[in-house]
Amino acid sequence: MKPQLAFYHQQAYPNLSPPQWLQHLPIVTDKDLTDSIESGDYQGYFAYQQVDGQPALSFFARLDGKLVNMYVDLVAGQVAYRRQHGGGRKQHIAKACGLKSNWQPKILDATGGLGRDAAELRNLGCQLRIIERSPYVASLLQDAIHRAASDTTSISQLFTQGFELYHGQSIDLIEQIARTEQPDIIYLDPMFPPRNKSASVKKEMRLVKLLVGEDPDANNLLPIAIENAAKRVVVKRPSYAPYLNEQKPSMSIESKGNRFDVYVK
Ligand SMILES: C[S@@+](CC[C@H](N)C(=O)[O-])C[C@H]1O[C@@H](n2cnc3c(N)ncnc32)[C@H](O)[C@@H]1O
Repeated sequence: MKPQLAFYHQQAYPNLSPPQWLQHLPIVTDKDLTDSIESGDYQGYFAYQQVDGQPALSFFARLDGKLVNMYVDLVAGQVAYRRQHGGGRKQHIAKACGLKSNWQPKILDATGGLGRDAAELRNLGCQLRIIERSPYVASLLQDAIHRAASDTTSISQLFTQGFELYHGQSIDLIEQIARTEQPDIIYLDPMFPPRNKSASVKKEMRLVKLLVGEDPDANNLLPIAIENAAKRVVVKRPSYAPYLNEQKPSMSIESKGNRFDVYVK
């Protein structure tokens, strides 16, 4: 029988219930949690772990025999590095979005994932609305937004407003959200199979893949995005991937291992 994806483990923070989008998961309270993964019943589990003295929602799973975990951090780590050393508006993502000192557009990121690109664009002054359909990934991101918004440094301002997450299917939500306030840019970064399937594919990418699988309907997003963006649609692809929906962009910006295909309206 195929293992179920995940359960929710309450051990470290017995007073915390699962977040709203994970309430369908079975709850485990006993200590012996790795057994249920080893027995093959489950692929992984969600639990809060302590990070800098506060609970951070995390996903734990076995990869290559080792129990590993991930949580999203919008303040420190990779996102902070990109904020401090990323090169501001000279970055490829900023160029693809056409950012200027006097133009900080409203962006709808319709494939939110772990929110890295969205956080980067927020750091550059853009207003972000983000859609993520996986309840697992959306929960990890929502938890990170709450932590970032309550951070004691000035970074918190970036996430208390101007950074809003919607959980749902973009194919339905793009139009609905655009009706309330049309985004200048719609940003798409659907999953694409890695060329290299070996263990060297980053741990985080493998865990996300475990949670969301492939995005087989990704092509359908492009025409909806083009119809609903006021200025442009930006699609992030691995360099080796064909154009989304086989549609030639107005221009492409090559970056390390990635390509930003830009559809100017
Ligand atoms: C490659 S990840 C995005 C990574 C993201 N750009 C980041 O910086 O973390 C793709 C994500 O888009 C989500 N996704 C794909 N198609 C979607 C759709 N039609 N509606 C909502 N979310 C979608 C997937 O669930 C997955 O989490």
